[in-house]
Amino acid sequence: MNDIILGIETSCDDTAVALVDSEGHILSSVVASQLDVHNQFGGIYPEFAARAHITAILPAVNEAFKVAGITPQDIKAIGVTRGPGLIGSLLVGLNAATGLGLGWNKPVVGINHLRGHLRSADLEQQRIIFPATILLVSGGHTLLAYMKSATEIELLGSTADDSTGETYDKVGRMLGLGYPGGPVVDRLARQGKATIPFPRPVINKGLAFSFSGLKSAVLRYMEANPDAPHEDIAASFVQAVMDVLIKKSRLALKQYPSRSFAIVGGVAASPQLREEAAKLCKKMKVALCLPPLRWSTDNAAMIALATFDYLNLSIHKEPVADLQLTMDRF
Ligand code: KG4
Ligand code: ZN
Repeated sequence: MNDIILGIETSCDDTAVALVDSEGHILSSVVASQLDVHNQFGGIYPEFAARAHITAILPAVNEAFKVAGITPQDIKAIGVTRGPGLIGSLLVGLNAATGLGLGWNKPVVGINHLRGHLRSADLEQQRIIFPATILLVSGGHTLLAYMKSATEIELLGSTADDSTGETYDKVGRMLGLGYPGGPVVDRLARQGKATIPFPRPVINKGLAFSFSGLKSAVLRYMEANPDAPHEDIAASFVQAVMDVLIKKSRLALKQYPSRSFAIVGGVAASPQLREEAAKLCKKMKVALCLPPLRWSTDNAAMIALATFDYLNLSIHKEPVADLQLTMDRF
């Protein structure tokens, strides 16, 4: 039997637990969603998120073992998200993992959430062809990374302020749509025309991102033009986001020769982004890698898979020190 790792992910609003083997096969993946808890606030309410994790974590661990048909003695180690994320939420996962590790006499490894996302593309099967450029676009993060191998990761650029998903969610709220804003804004955008010249923030500034100026521009436009068709606002906003993401990805692929390009994170669900990425990859002659969405959004299987990389190196070594820089904002 391959080695198995228990992954625990509680950085935000989902309590996720998974059992994964050393080849990335998923033995079980349990997610206790908190969407009902936060829907009424139009965003995540950190105090409630932490409390919901407390109730959900141990039942989720039990369920994961039940589904996989194995016992805690069958695992090699526990991998748990150590950040970035909401501190109250993270502490629930970290404390649970530490307690279980002590009780079961198994090593516990703290994993950078972003590293988990970057490794998520190889869950279930090896999809990434190295060297690879990865665009991570989620509710919490936006960054480009270059991976020479699973353990050699270079951070190329990240956002100075809001993430792509967060910007979608805020524009969704301005347009009176529900949370999360991403899917509904994309759908509305399909019905409109991209006629409003919203800014493309820092589009000519290398591989760095910034989205807060775009968000404010949408707000100012709506205040000045209360009768403007919402579908045109959505279409123009989405076009601005796509222009920025694709231009930066093209630049990364030019500067860092890659055999594949992967998109991970919740915004990878955007049909507009998928279409634009397909065109880009055809032009650049690199393989496009779009892992299934359930592994693109927050999950514990990616944390478990990333944990194997640490076990092979050294539990106490941080193979992606650069990524830690992005934690400074949290
Ligand atoms: O990766 P994820 O599930 O959670 C975080 O780690 O943050 O990403 C959630 C984000 C939300 O901001 C949501 O609006 C966005 O992904 N999203 C989308 C789409 N579906 C989800 N953004 C754009 N287009 C979509 N179709
Ligand atoms: Zn995430």
